[in-house]
Order: sequence, then C-alpha cells, then structure tokens
Amino acid sequence: MYRIEQHPILSIPARPRVSFSWKGQALEALEGETLSSALFAAGERIFGHHAKDGAAQGIFCANGQCAQCLVLADGIPVKSCMELVRPGLRVEPVEGLPELPPVESGAAGLPEARPVETVRVPVLIIGGGPAGLSAAIELGRRGIETLLIDDKHRLGGKLVLQTHRFFGSIDAVYAGTRGIDIATRLETEVRSFPPVRVWTQTTALAVYSDKKVGALVGGRRYVLIEPQILLVTSGAREKNLAFPGNTLPGVYGAGAFQTLVNRDLVKPTERLFIVGGGNVGLIAGYHALQAGIAVVGLVEVLPECGGYKVHRDKLARLGVPVYTSHTVISANGRESVESVTIARVDGTFKPVPGTERSFDCDTLLIAVGLDPVNEFFDKAREFGLPAFAAGDAEEIAEASAAIFSGKIRGLEVARALGHDVGEISPEWYRTADILKSRPGATIHERTPAEESGVFPVIHCNQEIPCDPCTAVCPNDLIEMDETDIRLLPSFVSAKGGKGCTGCEKCVAICPGLAITLVDYRKDAEFPTVAIPFEFLKDRLAAGDQVTVEDTEGNALGRVEVAAVKALKANDRTVIVKVRAPREYAKKIAGLRLQPEEAAEPLGRYVTRTADDVIVCRCERVTAGEIRQCIRDGMRDINEIKAVTRTSMGSCGAKTCTPLIHRLFREEGVPDAEVVDQPKRPLFIEVPLGIFAGLEGKDDGHDNA
Ligand code: FES
Repeated sequence: MYRIEQHPILSIPARPRVSFSWKGQALEALEGETLSSALFAAGERIFGHHAKDGAAQGIFCANGQCAQCLVLADGIPVKSCMELVRPGLRVEPVEGLPELPPVESGAAGLPEARPVETVRVPVLIIGGGPAGLSAAIELGRRGIETLLIDDKHRLGGKLVLQTHRFFGSIDAVYAGTRGIDIATRLETEVRSFPPVRVWTQTTALAVYSDKKVGALVGGRRYVLIEPQILLVTSGAREKNLAFPGNTLPGVYGAGAFQTLVNRDLVKPTERLFIVGGGNVGLIAGYHALQAGIAVVGLVEVLPECGGYKVHRDKLARLGVPVYTSHTVISANGRESVESVTIARVDGTFKPVPGTERSFDCDTLLIAVGLDPVNEFFDKAREFGLPAFAAGDAEEIAEASAAIFSGKIRGLEVARALGHDVGEISPEWYRTADILKSRPGATIHERTPAEESGVFPVIHCNQEIPCDPCTAVCPNDLIEMDETDIRLLPSFVSAKGGKGCTGCEKCVAICPGLAITLVDYRKDAEFPTVAIPFEFLKDRLAAGDQVTVEDTEGNALGRVEVAAVKALKANDRTVIVKVRAPREYAKKIAGLRLQPEEAAEPLGRYVTRTADDVIVCRCERVTAGEIRQCIRDGMRDINEIKAVTRTSMGSCGAKTCTPLIHRLFREEGVPDAEVVDQPKRPLFIEVPLGIFAGLEGKDDGHDNA
C-alpha cells in the first residue's frame, strides 16, 4: 500500500516476497529489505514507546546512528533500519525497557567461547561511499591489497539515494551522470580488482590502542582487523534540531527519507514539510515530488537558502513555497506528526510573535546540516595508527568532492606504503578545492537579446562547480573559463561558421534543470520552448495547459504543451515543448507541477508548549533539564551526564552532543570553558557475546 509503483528515474525491480510478523500479525516484506522499510511499507511507523515517559518512538536517521528505531526481532532488540527481514521473523515493538532473553543457568547452559580471528591487511577502508570506492579503485589499480568494509548491504553510500544528475566536473567526477548510476560504475570498477576485498554489512565498532580495528561482520561474527594504514571514508551523520515535538514519529533526517524513498522504494508520507534550505533539504524536496509526494513547504532560517540556487529554483518552480527567514516552532501531534507550525524570525533569529502559521503534514524532514563521522580517524591518530580521511569524514562537501578526494587519498595511501605513484598533480588538489567550494555570488539573469533562429537560454545565475553543459554541445557553443568550472557558462551564437541546431543536448544534461531552448524558426510570435522535466512522461501530454514560470518560480502565464519527448539518449530527462508568446518565451525556466492548494496553511495555528523540547532522544532529557545544570554552574558535560543521564543512551551521544554545545552557547558560556565528554569505543552497540567469539544470528551473509 505504501510502496512506490512507478518512478520517473528509478526502476522498480520485481522481488520475491517474504513473510514475517508484527505484533503477532502476518505481514509481507520484499526479500533483502530492512525491517524499518518493511514496516513503513505496511503503514507502521510507531515502533514502540520510551521507558521514561511513554513517548512514541520511530526512525530518525535510517542509518544506524541514532538507535531510535529499536524493535524486538525474535526477542532480541535490534535497529530496524539496519536489520534485514528474514522469513518467519517475529517482530514486536519495544514497549518500555526490553527484557533480556532467558539464559540457562549452570556451565552446561553457556555456549563455548571461540578465539577471535585477526585479519592483517595493508589497507583498511571504512566506508564504501563515493570517497571509499574511489580510493579503492586507485589502490586496486596498483595491485595493493585492500579491505573495504561498509555497514550497509549495498555499496555506494549516499550515491544510491541520488536520482539527480551530478554537478562538478564531467572529466573528474562524472558530472551530468545520476548519483545512482555513478554508484554502480564505481562499485563495478572496485569489484574488478582482485586485490580489493569488499565486506558489506560489516560495521566498524572501534579502533583500539593496539592499532586494531574491531568489526562485526554480517551482524554475527566479530573480527579484529590489523591494517598498516587506515583510510576513514565513513561519511557524515545528520544534525539534529531541538524544538517541541522533535522526536515524534514522522520527524526524520532528510537522509532517512531519501533512504526510504529512493533506496527502498517506500512511500512513507503523503504530505511533507522540510526544515533547512541547504542542498540536502532542497534535493530531498525534489526527490519527494518525483515519488509523487506533496511538499507543503520548506523553511530556512537564513535570508537565503544555503544550497545551490538551481536546486532552490527548481523546487520553487514546481510549486513548493520556500520560506526564508523562517523557523520551525513545533511539530504537532499526539503519537506522530499531524501538522507543523512555523514563524518568521527577526534579525537575531528569534520567532516574531503573530507570524505563526500551521500546515497540515504527516512528515517533517530535518535537513540542518551534517557532522563528519570522524571518531575512527581521531582514535587511530591518538593511538598512532597511520590514518587518512576523505569525503565527508574529512570535510562536509558535495559527493562529487568526495569522489575526487577519495581518489587523491587513495594515491597518498599507496605512496605511504612505499609505492611509486609519481607526483600527485597540484592541479588535482586545486580541482578538489574547487569541487568543495560553497556556492558563490548570485548574478542578475542575463536574457539574450536575439529573437530569431534557435538558441539556449541559460538560467544558471550562481557560481557553482559544474561544467556538463560545456561538454555536450556538438558545435562547442557553450563556453566557460576552463581553469575554473565555478564561473558561469555563456552561449556564443556561432563558431567556425556553425550555430545552434536545436539538438537539446544542453537542455537534457544540465543537473540544475537550468537550460531551456527557444525556437523561433516556425513561428516568431509564438516560439517553442523546450523545458527539461524529470517526472513521469505521462503526467503531461500535447494539448495540456500548463503554468510556466521564470527562474525564481514566478508564474508567467498559461500555455499549451506542444509535445512531450522521452528520448533514450536523454537518460530519463523528458523534454516538454510548449508554445509561448514571444513577450516571455525567453523568461520561461520551468513549469508548475504541484497545485497551489497543496501548500496552503491551515486557517488557525497550533503549537506545543516548549517544556518538552527533547535534546537527548535516547534518555529523553529535555533542554530545560540541561539548561538548569548549566545555570547551576556545570561546565563539564560528564557532570551533566551524571545528573540527567543525557548522552548515556544507545546512540552513544551522537545526536545530542551538538545540541548540548548549542545550549552552552545560548547560555553565554564560551566553547573554551566547556569540557567535552570523551569519545570511547565502542562507537556502535553490539551484543557482548560477540567479543568472546559467540556468533550472533545467522542472516545468510556470505562475507569473508
Ligand atoms: S533510525 Fe535506525 S539507528 Fe537511527
């Protein structure tokens, strides 16, 4: 019922079904999917109630980082977002504290402990996302024995969630290709190198003082890995935000949402609201629309969205209101999200009374930034294990930057092992810096003066690292300063006696959907405008009336669709041709998809009281409790832990620590006065028995 049956970009493979039970009722799942996705697909999103205050619990990160999604699987507490469904599995919600399974008393009841295997390898890579895969390719090419481990059942990291074409350099990082397809290419290449071994569903648990890395292989076998060099490409975790109702089921990280929708093809919501106008939030909104989900709005506390303007613009054009200088006041609902309340903020980011508005929605995405998963790197350095980091684990940036930094780090690791890799070109380091750069200044759009023939109109008005449009024009008519792909492209009307032929290649490849083609050749008064469209072809047909918009999403008028083209060569980008009056044909940048009614506010506003703002999700400690400790003079987070139990839950303080630091700042305590809590292994919770060589459940995993 809650599965995606059709998608404009993703194929929907037929998969065998398996049966499991939830609260004693038989349910069906698809083979190889996680428990959380199987439950969502069945319409279940409350996975239990907290022991402290009975609050409903559900997923937050869908990435094994927050431990909010615990369920009991055959009596054992497991993270449902990391556990795959097995036929016949009995799954129950966690109501309060789970009970330990019974253990038979006496020596006869104890299983026999086995020695733990140690695997020695020149290079261990933690994380099979864009950076890890790119590094493994460089190492594999040089015949260097490498072990790459990843906690998911699929390689690719965040790439497998990205249906859009990538920005960046077409030469260096596959720009213009969709993230999902880059993941497949990188994985195929990695697996072609025999010296590179890959263990999926393998979770790195800790780096120890004897320079070994503990890992849980396939969820059942504990292994010690002793690398000469460790490369950490473990990506990022999403930041949290404290506001009333922030832990209600239905409030997720944007990455969790993309995992459900784009990886697992589950439709977890009908109406979505987004907090955060960085690239992650903007792209999540776009992915929601592609999956047929209404996006009610997006709030960004700053006066401008921090993500790429082209992402913001395409969302606005499709009919999603973007509320800048606004914040979320509360998520409302008793057991799960039923509405969200937002308000305008003043110059100090405080909500302005009287500007509150509530919107009907069942899901609220939190996309307020990422933190590097860098604890493995820090511990390796502390214990003297030679270590490198790349991708988001080193510095938060776009996946295209992670691909390139992984490539460079792969060469650096090879060199550190004594291999002759020659000089790594300074140009590579410069390219890496360019790919990491934040969006530059926005310029006023320059509309071409001519009104004859055929030519592209480039609606790309912000400097971002991106160059695919320059590579596809058969007559080389789109130019850019080749030394810096952040500079804006421009169209020249003729070169070598050749002009634009109207081939539409630039329209199809632009990752920002920011190029249209205006053709005056048949009718100068009503030229045809070719618009890129990444939705199902049959949503539009010749003869339909559509609202066309300028770059920013302002309506220009209603026009008739002349044709809808879905060419194989355009790789799932549909070209919609409309006939529009000459007065505004060149201004058209896109067409509205979502009706205005979908985003209208409720007639009244609702909100929750502020005393229940949860900072520590695992132990359900409120901002008020922690604030009181700070006001009582505590500066050591360990002391606050002892008083409140904050940071002592199963996520290992991953979600609350940044919020506690924020509370210190709000109370006027400088960072230098705050004593942080130490990061101690283990970084992920596991059954204790695995350290004695006791194997866990057998999930049929065939690694190692
Ligand atoms: S939702 Fe499963 S660990 Fe966060």
